[in-house]
Amino acid sequence: GTKEGCAEGDCGACTVLVGERRGDGVAWRNVNACIQFLPMLDGKALLTVDDLRPACGGALHPAQQALVDCHGSQCGFCTPGFVMSMVQVYERDTARAAVPSRQQLADDLAGNLCRCTGYRPILDAAERMFELPACKLDAAPVVAALATLATDPPLALTDPRGARAFVPRTVEQLAA
Ligand code: FES
Ligand code: FES
Repeated sequence: GTKEGCAEGDCGACTVLVGERRGDGVAWRNVNACIQFLPMLDGKALLTVDDLRPACGGALHPAQQALVDCHGSQCGFCTPGFVMSMVQVYERDTARAAVPSRQQLADDLAGNLCRCTGYRPILDAAERMFELPACKLDAAPVVAALATLATDPPLALTDPRGARAFVPRTVEQLAA
């Protein structure tokens, strides 16, 4: 479901979530997939819009349902990216039991562009998703998988053109 629009990090159509361990949980960050280099995902979790329905027991995620309810999608090209940025906000703010202000939501979604719907119904949806039946992402299996990945040796790659990537995990490895 992830879309490619500009392919240069401007539109947010390609937004995915990248997860890293934080304490006992996972901190999710929304990023533009089109400007990520593959080694930047080393040791991290990756979530796309296609992961949401299985995570919500087959139902739409509240971010998706709210976009439907508030008519926040027309051509739909931007929608998967908006959904993922909204899910990042949802995970962040349900964890701290806070409902963000409309201005905060506007700031949170500022990296996602929509050419047809307009931003009012999308911001309406971002507010409404907190009123719908909850769907928190299950952190436990992600934390377990990340713990396993953390025991891997540090990544060192050379591609066929000779470009190299090293992904150190410790200060000592970075120094080496
Ligand atoms: Fe536009 Fe990635 S495709 S930001
Ligand atoms: Fe068409 Fe947003 S719904 S670009």
